[in-house]
Amino acid sequence: MIVVIGSINMDLVLRVPRIPAAGETLSGSAFHTIPGGKGANQAVACARLGTGSLPAVAMIGCLGDDGFGALLRAALVAEGIDVSRVSTMPGIASGVATIMVDAAGQNSIVIAGGANDLLSPVHIDAAHDLIAQASVVVLQLESPLATVEYAIRLAHQLGKIVVLNPAPAPATPLPAALLAQVDYLIPNEIEAAMLAGCAPDDIAGASAALHAQGCRNVLVTLGAKGVHAALVEGTLVFAAHPVVAVDSTAAGDTFIGGFVAALAAGAPVVEAIALGQRAAAWSVMRHGAQTSIPHRHALTDTGKPS
Ligand code: RIB
Repeated sequence: MIVVIGSINMDLVLRVPRIPAAGETLSGSAFHTIPGGKGANQAVACARLGTGSLPAVAMIGCLGDDGFGALLRAALVAEGIDVSRVSTMPGIASGVATIMVDAAGQNSIVIAGGANDLLSPVHIDAAHDLIAQASVVVLQLESPLATVEYAIRLAHQLGKIVVLNPAPAPATPLPAALLAQVDYLIPNEIEAAMLAGCAPDDIAGASAALHAQGCRNVLVTLGAKGVHAALVEGTLVFAAHPVVAVDSTAAGDTFIGGFVAALAAGAPVVEAIALGQRAAAWSVMRHGAQTSIPHRHALTDTGKPS
C-alpha cells in the first residue's frame, strides 16, 4: 500500500494572457474549479500510474464540511483511493488554491489552507494501522510542519520508504533530524536551493548539501531541463521529454506519483524516475491538476509521451 499524507484543495483556475502586475486588472479567458492539492494530486497520480498488481493507495488529510469538501472526497473515491482517514472538520472551509495560468503554461498559485491546516498528530495516530501496512509513505509541506515531522518519524520507525516533496519551500531550513529520516527528497530547483542555502542554479551543490544533512537520495526536478538524481549509488542526470507545455500545474505531483507507483511495485529507481518523467511530460500538455494526470495505459511503451 502507498499512503499519502497531505493537502486536498479545490483549485480555482483562471487562464490569463500573462500574470498581472500589482494593482493591475486583466481579463482572463476561462475559469474552472478542478480538484487539486499536492497531497491529493500525488495520491491520484499513484493510483492512476500503478499497474494492476500494485498495492492500494490511501490518503490521510482533512477536508472542510462544505460543498468543495464533498466534491473533493468524491474525486478521491472515484480513483479507488481509501479515504477512511480523510477527516471532515466541522465548521471549517476546505483548502482552496487560486491559480493563474499564463499563455506560456507557467502558473502562479496562492493557497488558503483551511482544513489542511488542522491535520494533526492525532490524525496520524488514527491512521497507524494504514501506515503500518504501507510500503511507501509520501508527504509534502502543505500540512503543519509539526505533523509532517511526527508522521515521518513514525513511518521511519516502522521501516517504511519515506518520500518527502518539500513544497511549498519552507521559510526556514528543515531540521537535519527530519531530513535524516527521508529516503527520497524530491524538491524542484527553487526548493532545493532554498533548503540547502545555495544559489538557484547550483543543483549539484544543493544536492550535496542535502545529502550531507542525511537525505539518502535527492531528486531535483528541473522542469524542461529534466531531473538531477543524487542517489546513494551515484549521481545521474535524466533529460526531459521535449514537449510543448500548456500548463505546468501538478507536473511535479505527477512525477512523484509515477515515481512512487513504480517504486512501490519494486521497479529499480532509474525505471521509477523514467515513469515519473513520462507521466509529467504528458501532464504539462494538459490543463489543470488532477485533470492532467495520465493513467498508466495512456503512456506509450516507447518512453515518449503519447
Ligand atoms: O502542485 C499543484 C497544487 O499546488 C495545486 O493543485 C494546488 O492545489 C496547490 O496545492
